[in-house]
Amino acid sequence: MSYSKGLEGVVATETKISFIDGEKGVLELIGIPIGELASNSSFEESVFFLWNGRLPKKAELADFESAIRARYDMPAYISQLVMSMPKDAQPMHVLRTAVSAMGLIDPKPNATDLPSVRDKALTLLAVTPTILGAFHRYRKGLPIIAPDKTLPIAANVLYMISGTKPTPTMAKALDVCLVLHTDHGLNNSTFSARVVISTLSDIYSAITAAIGSLRGPLHGGANEGVMVMLNEIASPEAAEQYTLDKLAKKDKIMGFGHRVYKSYDPRATHLKVLAKQLAQDTGNMALYDKSTAIEKTMATAVAAKGIYPNVDFYSATTYHCIGLPLDLFTPMFVVGRIGGWSAHILEQLADNRLFRPDVDYKGPHDVRYTPIDKR
Ligand code: CMC
Repeated sequence: MSYSKGLEGVVATETKISFIDGEKGVLELIGIPIGELASNSSFEESVFFLWNGRLPKKAELADFESAIRARYDMPAYISQLVMSMPKDAQPMHVLRTAVSAMGLIDPKPNATDLPSVRDKALTLLAVTPTILGAFHRYRKGLPIIAPDKTLPIAANVLYMISGTKPTPTMAKALDVCLVLHTDHGLNNSTFSARVVISTLSDIYSAITAAIGSLRGPLHGGANEGVMVMLNEIASPEAAEQYTLDKLAKKDKIMGFGHRVYKSYDPRATHLKVLAKQLAQDTGNMALYDKSTAIEKTMATAVAAKGIYPNVDFYSATTYHCIGLPLDLFTPMFVVGRIGGWSAHILEQLADNRLFRPDVDYKGPHDVRYTPIDKR
């Protein structure tokens, strides 16, 4: 048996969903380069693609979109639950709890046959943005905005958060972000979802676990960490020294580095262009300039170690320009990644084997039990 800390380099499963070449900076979803999907597809179409293994025909996409929109409304119990949560709760904890609670009102929560799981995945995909919008407005003391069933997921979630219909540019920008975040190999949260479902547990448990994993600062939580860092930097001119000081203290720079990519994350390439465009349109160039100054400093200081911007780095500027509050950045990652998590859950169930790795035990053996009064 061999051991690799953090399972680095260990192949834990086979998949037909996404492919990463970390040396060349390639990400493909079922063979299509991520940049090509982000430029041409929509979030809904990308999810259909992952769940079916092929792009939809026009009528199929329309049916899929209608099925999602028909499930936008929160069940009454979930609505009551969300409105009873502490207003200062963190939105990732709210999402994790609400998704878990969706299992309480499903008459057959444990069904693991593929059509049932797909049906539940569709509901979770549709309702999660509504939960997010409702909790945000409830905590701010604002009237809740019902979902607009004429809108796609990206435009609708922005509408439910802000109360105003987004401009086509902002709706499109978020849609592109969701496509870029849909799936990414056996990342920690996807692995978590597959591990849970491999016990033949249920999709609510698997996605709840995945949300818990995603919120960590080494994973999806990094996009909020990037924004906190950008806010700490007074000006683009101050970014270089700030970065060098952090590196000298051996602190991690959020939004940089990746277990798999040892070159530029292709999602970051796309997001950098989007972030610049939005920053120009919304008067946020200082934010973008701080980001490029950090990137330039990192390129000199640590690129030799294969550390480049990852998906979270330019997501921060992009989400800020779209008008999202900081603590909704990682929840927005959930909205996109549910597509990928569900695809992996379906793939795991279609050819399941329980995940049960081994450990390399390093503790003592043959120890005698000492009675409590003799210790
Ligand atoms: N800033 C500075 N140094 C870094 C960074 C960074 N962001 N990332 C890695 N390093 C250094 C690290 O200090 C170590 O150096 P040395 O060999 O001299 O001790 C070396 O690079 C290897 O780092 P590691 O932490 O052992 O690498 P890993 O593969 O275990 O970690 C990572 C990958 C993503 C956890 C890490 O790069 C990191 O903590 N990055 C910051 C958090 C972040 O942006 N996470 C988002 C990841 S991508 C999107 C997602 O998954 O959601």
